Amino acid sequence: IFLFQFSLTIMLYFQMVIMAGTVMLAYYFEYTDTFTVNVQGFFCFDSSYTKPYPGPDESSDIPPVLLFSLVAGVPVLVIIVGETVVFCLQVATRDFENQEKTLLTGDCCYINPLVRRTVRFLGIYTFGLFATDIFVNAGQVVTGNLAPHFLTVCKPNYTALGCHQFTQFITDVHACTGNPDLVTKARRTFPSKDAALSIYAAMYLAMYITNTIKAKGTRLAKPVLCLGLMCLAFLTGINRVAEYRNHWSDVIAGFFIGISIAVFLVVCVVNNFKGRQAEQEKSPIDNLAQMPMISIPRVESPLEKVSPLLEVTLRSTLRVYNMP
Ligand SMILES: *[C@@H]1O[C@H](CO)[C@@H](O)[C@H](O)[C@H]1NC(C)=O
Repeated sequence: IFLFQFSLTIMLYFQMVIMAGTVMLAYYFEYTDTFTVNVQGFFCFDSSYTKPYPGPDESSDIPPVLLFSLVAGVPVLVIIVGETVVFCLQVATRDFENQEKTLLTGDCCYINPLVRRTVRFLGIYTFGLFATDIFVNAGQVVTGNLAPHFLTVCKPNYTALGCHQFTQFITDVHACTGNPDLVTKARRTFPSKDAALSIYAAMYLAMYITNTIKAKGTRLAKPVLCLGLMCLAFLTGINRVAEYRNHWSDVIAGFFIGISIAVFLVVCVVNNFKGRQAEQEKSPIDNLAQMPMISIPRVESPLEKVSPLLEVTLRSTLRVYNMP
């Protein structure tokens, strides 16, 4: 048990280091010039980049403050409320006592399942949020795709650049005469951060709600709620196009990144938000096999379907030889 506690502590530290690294990387992308954006050229008078400048992000219909507070606040609220309700229902039905007490091999390190589940779901959500931010920033810095209003803030001196025909391509790094901060910002559009973050939050919440709330009479309420969330995220992305801040391709790429990360985390990392009940259903042999630090990848054994008896025999034979 001491060894188990020790390895648990190591794992906890390891996870915290990964989390801190992710936050640091996101910070460096967001607030420093560590990663310089790729400078793309443009065609003279290119009409894809000559939309009017819509003003700073703060004057948008969905300003960053609103977006970030929703993306950070709503899931925290929903998950805390959801987990509290689930926990209260379990206590009410006396369902949890024999299941959750054995959680961490005995009473020595008993953690309230409510706290444990909430921390896990919120921790993974936060990790995914920063991961999405890093994906988006990396994409923006590497591609350096230009915003629809790029030429408006760039204000190139077409006379000095010798622009006589539309097909002339300008690669001059110092072609822009406008405000350098605005120009740099207009070079960071692919993929759209607003689209990625909002769809990530909506997708994660939708999957949480679908997998956690099992109450009767919510058969229609759940999809309505989830599709409502997805719709809000969709509108956030569309609004970026409407305000000439992003192209269609930026928003679609942002949606793709957000959805991919949410699906990956929910399906592969939190296992669809299932509680202890699902894990308890496995046989004791399986539970034993999962105790070591390095877990053995579980492949659905064809023998399981053919003959349970044969499999038990086979497994106990293998155990004699200390094989998984
Ligand atoms: C553009 O460049 C030309 C030639 O170098 C110069 O005469 C003109 O003043 C410039 N225009 C602006 C607005 O800077």
